[in-house]
Amino acid sequence: SPSDPDLVERARAAKEKLGDKVFVLGHHYQRDEVIQFADVTGDSFKLARDAAARPEAEYIVFCGVHFMAESADILTSDDQKVVLPDLAAGCSMADMATAEQVAECWDVLTEAGIAEQVVPVSYMNSSADIKAFTGKHGGTICTSSNAKRALEWAFQQGEKVLFLPDQHLGRNTAVRDMGMSLDDCVVYNPHKPGGGVTVEELRAAKMILWRGHCSVHGRFSLDSVNDVRARIPGVNVLVHPECKHEVVAAADYVGSTEYIIKALEAAPAGSKWAIGTELNLVRRLANRFAPEGKEIVFLDRTVCFCSTMNRIDLPHLVWTLESLAEGKLVNRIEVDKETEAFAKLALERMLALP
Ligand code: 13P
Ligand code: SF4
Repeated sequence: SPSDPDLVERARAAKEKLGDKVFVLGHHYQRDEVIQFADVTGDSFKLARDAAARPEAEYIVFCGVHFMAESADILTSDDQKVVLPDLAAGCSMADMATAEQVAECWDVLTEAGIAEQVVPVSYMNSSADIKAFTGKHGGTICTSSNAKRALEWAFQQGEKVLFLPDQHLGRNTAVRDMGMSLDDCVVYNPHKPGGGVTVEELRAAKMILWRGHCSVHGRFSLDSVNDVRARIPGVNVLVHPECKHEVVAAADYVGSTEYIIKALEAAPAGSKWAIGTELNLVRRLANRFAPEGKEIVFLDRTVCFCSTMNRIDLPHLVWTLESLAEGKLVNRIEVDKETEAFAKLALERMLALP
């Protein structure tokens, strides 16, 4: 829906008043009405790097979700303030791995006698606590654009990987990009005693996958792929690696949001695409590339927006920018010092991946 012109003007005026003091980051899944005010847009990897590259900005306004703002706080200097326009913009996947559950899992691995062989690899989509756990135990963070390199690095450090919290990204990367088999993976369920797996299964596994998933990408199904192929002959199916393994296996191309955008930029006129990722991004890409004769549809019309990404809307952004312009710091995301130190270790390992 078109943005309210009054709110657009207020956001513009507040941003102008703040000048270089504010830097606005926008994740690709954000609404159009918010994206129009982003100084930079990107996937979670690009935004983490870009946040760290703006030491002159006093305020980093993060239009995305909570774990992204935490990561930005960890990577920026102490006097820079990271602000999340709506504190309720969390991520259901990140919430699927709590610090207590992960500590319990580590105890299970220790009792099975394998903890020393295990390197944790945590998806960016996790809380700062989980990133700190990862750093403390010699592991790295990854995003959907560097998961393969992160796993290659991890298997140079140890024999097994504990992959948190997205089982699908972990499985897809292991099987699709690393040549492992589904039998090399076990799923650890934090809601069952001992993770719902036997000690023998843990000892035999190369990939121990946390039982987490994205509530948006997890909704695409093999039927979504089959239906769109039947409906649009010649369609290219391009999906995000947070989708289930069977969806990824049936797709033509798989990649992060930045990869998806680049693939569509490079696509020839007349080509047809069905995209399995968040709807705000798919709609924006469909509109952007329609004039070039590229037909882009949403992989499954029954799947909806990421509800927490959508919490950041223009009214929240206006309130945030106007507050900051009046010298009132609101919705600051600040990770405590000890968590930050270990989480930073894990994030810096990611940033140093080849
Ligand atoms: P990327 O932008 O890294 O592909 O992440 C997707 C996502 O689900 C972010 O919440
Ligand atoms: Fe979390 Fe999925 Fe939403 Fe990304 S799209 S913020 S992983 S729920």
